[in-house]
Amino acid sequence: MDNLVADVAAASAATRDETQVPSYYTRKTADILHKYGPGPRVHFHVGLFDPGSTPNTTVSQQTLRRRLRESQEAALDHAARSWGVPEDPPAQLFDIGCGLGGGSIYWAQEYGCSVTAMTVTAKHVPVVADLVRQAGVEDLVTPVLGDIHDLREQQAYDAAVAIESSGYMDRERLFNVVANALKPGGWFGLQEHFLCRPEWTSFIDGYYKTRLGTLAEYITAAHRFGFTLEQDEDVTDRVAEFWVQSMAWTTAELDRVERAGAASPISAERLLESALTHSKLFRVWRDHAVETRMLLFRLKGGN
Ligand SMILES: C[S@@+](CC[C@H](N)C(=O)[O-])C[C@H]1O[C@@H](n2cnc3c(N)ncnc32)[C@H](O)[C@@H]1O
Repeated sequence: MDNLVADVAAASAATRDETQVPSYYTRKTADILHKYGPGPRVHFHVGLFDPGSTPNTTVSQQTLRRRLRESQEAALDHAARSWGVPEDPPAQLFDIGCGLGGGSIYWAQEYGCSVTAMTVTAKHVPVVADLVRQAGVEDLVTPVLGDIHDLREQQAYDAAVAIESSGYMDRERLFNVVANALKPGGWFGLQEHFLCRPEWTSFIDGYYKTRLGTLAEYITAAHRFGFTLEQDEDVTDRVAEFWVQSMAWTTAELDRVERAGAASPISAERLLESALTHSKLFRVWRDHAVETRMLLFRLKGGN
């Protein structure tokens, strides 16, 4: 790392509250399991709907939940095919920011990958371990507690994925540590949201505790550490419907709680905030003020 990068990393580390993201995810665990569970493959990322498809939302809450989950798995299926995983599955895969491990279990079950599943949220590690056991892939998936910025591994992995986790990270440090951790010629696949209209930055970062960046920022950081961009796919239009379906699930949950007096781990206040936020997110995605992209970077070297 040259001096400039070291200075940037030090400055950003100095201003960052490193407890914010783990606290946010610790609080959200029960909510995520309730909305996207029961698993064992539980995902916390947006999903893909077929181009132009706008399924009816006046359906049962259970149908909405199934659809959300299917769209999340459709995103992973799409990423896997685009990144050439069926033809050449990586033996050693690093899942960076694994959430509740849904993706890690997916890569192990569908493609036989040996997966290191890293999260910075300590409370999630036993939850992931339990879901991994339920899925019967303890021999393939290893949950690890760690902050990606501190990674020291060298040439350990054939590939790495970061599904909506890089938005929490310092991109210079992320590409630096991943370049060291991959074997020469290894690939790094990301699904992430990218800022196009900066006036939406504080709204989205405030809600999700992220620090989203621009595509140009990612590409510059990746080039600096020896990656080339092999694929850049804009999936924003296929994601926009996710917000509508998710908002429908949330309003159904609010009805259940307020009208039927049912119990929910998610407070009525948070459900209201979520419904309002999702209606804005739909418009933000429809207008491409933020874009969701799937990127594939390749590290130099190898065959
Ligand atoms: C939106 S969730 C995505 C989860 C998962 N990739 C999925 O698709 O379901 C973001 C994840 O990134 C993790 N994360 C955020 N900052 C991190 C860091 N510095 N090091 C490791 N993991 C981090 C969080 O703990 C959380 O698990």
